[in-house]
Amino acid sequence: MTTPLDITFARLDAAPAATCAAFAGSDLSLSPAVQALNTKSQGLVLKAAEAAEFKAKAKSSIEILAPQKLDIQRLLLIGVGKAGEHDESDWASIGGYTFGQITARKAREVSVIAEVSGADHKPEIVAANLAYGALLRNYSFKKYHTKKNGDDANGADGAADRGIKLTIHCTDPDKARAAFETKRAVASGICFARDLVNEPANVLGPVEFADRVKELESIGLEVEILDDVTLKELGMNTLLSVAQGSVRPARVAIMQWHGAKSKRAKPLAFVGKGVVFDTGGISIKPAAGMEDMKGDMGGAAAVTGLMVALAERKAPVNAVGILGIVENMPSGSAIRPGDIVVSLSGQTVENLNTDAEGRLVLADVLWYVQERFKPRLVVDLATLTGAIMIALGKDFAGLFANDDKLADQLIAASKTTGEKVWRMPLDKSYDKLMDSKNADVKNMGGRWGGACTAAAFLNRFIKKDVPWAHLDIAGTAMDAPKNEISTSWASGWGVQLLDRFIADNYEKAEK
Ligand code: BES
Ligand code: MN
Ligand code: ZN
Repeated sequence: MTTPLDITFARLDAAPAATCAAFAGSDLSLSPAVQALNTKSQGLVLKAAEAAEFKAKAKSSIEILAPQKLDIQRLLLIGVGKAGEHDESDWASIGGYTFGQITARKAREVSVIAEVSGADHKPEIVAANLAYGALLRNYSFKKYHTKKNGDDANGADGAADRGIKLTIHCTDPDKARAAFETKRAVASGICFARDLVNEPANVLGPVEFADRVKELESIGLEVEILDDVTLKELGMNTLLSVAQGSVRPARVAIMQWHGAKSKRAKPLAFVGKGVVFDTGGISIKPAAGMEDMKGDMGGAAAVTGLMVALAERKAPVNAVGILGIVENMPSGSAIRPGDIVVSLSGQTVENLNTDAEGRLVLADVLWYVQERFKPRLVVDLATLTGAIMIALGKDFAGLFANDDKLADQLIAASKTTGEKVWRMPLDKSYDKLMDSKNADVKNMGGRWGGACTAAAFLNRFIKKDVPWAHLDIAGTAMDAPKNEISTSWASGWGVQLLDRFIADNYEKAEK
């Protein structure tokens, strides 16, 4: 649903558009191009900065209208803070901020001089991340607004409806363009995930979700959809037990990306919880806020977005993304508390609360992916528990892992992308709480440590010696805090993190 945004790269000495934004460091260090503007305007730029007491703190700005001697309408100075103290994600964030400043002024043709003296990243990295931040900031979900006059409640996005032409001026536009191609693929994956999460459940049922995944064959993914009949034959009974109360049948979607030199190299596996709507089932949820449960497929959306990113940037890696897609409804055919079901793994599961459904979906899909693909590692993403929000709030996802190296790699990727994770315990004490009186395992562990007992449940479906990590993204996938690059209800959380995790650890060796 991203509105038209045309991004090009130009040399620093190319003539700027009518609206020109330029980076400034906190000691008012300017790029040579901005210094040239200052000189041409007979010192006006720095004089104005001084008059406004502009300290160029990160994400602050001043606007100079009709600057003398410059052939432009307005110059925005965009503060970037101390030029030498940035992560890559900070440049994306500054890009998002800059784009917000541009759209707030309804400017249509804009130049950004995306350089500052003393920056700690190569100019093309700064420029590419600026463009990436702008793309993500530009995202909005407006397909159900019938008035297109550009004056929606967010106002700021109005100009974007008519399209913006953004030219990024930098030292080496060719290098910047190349660096941006990778980033564009990731942004495309994130926006794909956001669209899926924002979509209401009446439009996006399990079948429709699977259809959207199937369409990804057009970008080079190999896609297989398992229908409810096939799932029954396979024995995915815990997954089906969640779906049985809904009139809309379950699906499992499998996406494969073969980018490694050896097509037979073991893949990395990513598993997503795709509950298109979670009413809680017979253990029904309270009415207030239940509409948010259209986002209970945020894990599946993130895995899909990741596969989009890998395919679009032609990542040299083999990966499989697999989604369990169901709707959790109460009805005459719904599963009851107390029911016992035989999972694909053969373990019997007693259902003590039909609202603890995500783990039942994941149990069968996790087992299936390990059996069929013998993956090098498995990472699952799921909006699994309210308890993770009680523990960590809405800025951090919970990370559970049976392997320290895998956990550390995810934590490192988290630091570079700014998608925060916090490691939580996998421990025998939680596992014990999942023993059932009447079956091998129950789906609820009691009042305390809900995110940890949920992870302990999943762990029962992980084979020995398979490195596995579980990300509980209930707090971060939807209704997450807004920031410079994410202003939508659906964040697309996890796409960047996993893309980076793969790029930094599993690509070089496989080329
Ligand atoms: N989908 C919910 C978790 C959730 C809650 C995600 C709020 C996003 C926002 C999950 O299926 C659920 O209902 N979990 C229960 C488990 C409990 C019944 C053991 C929970 O966390 O309360
Ligand atoms: Mn639930
Ligand atoms: Zn759920």
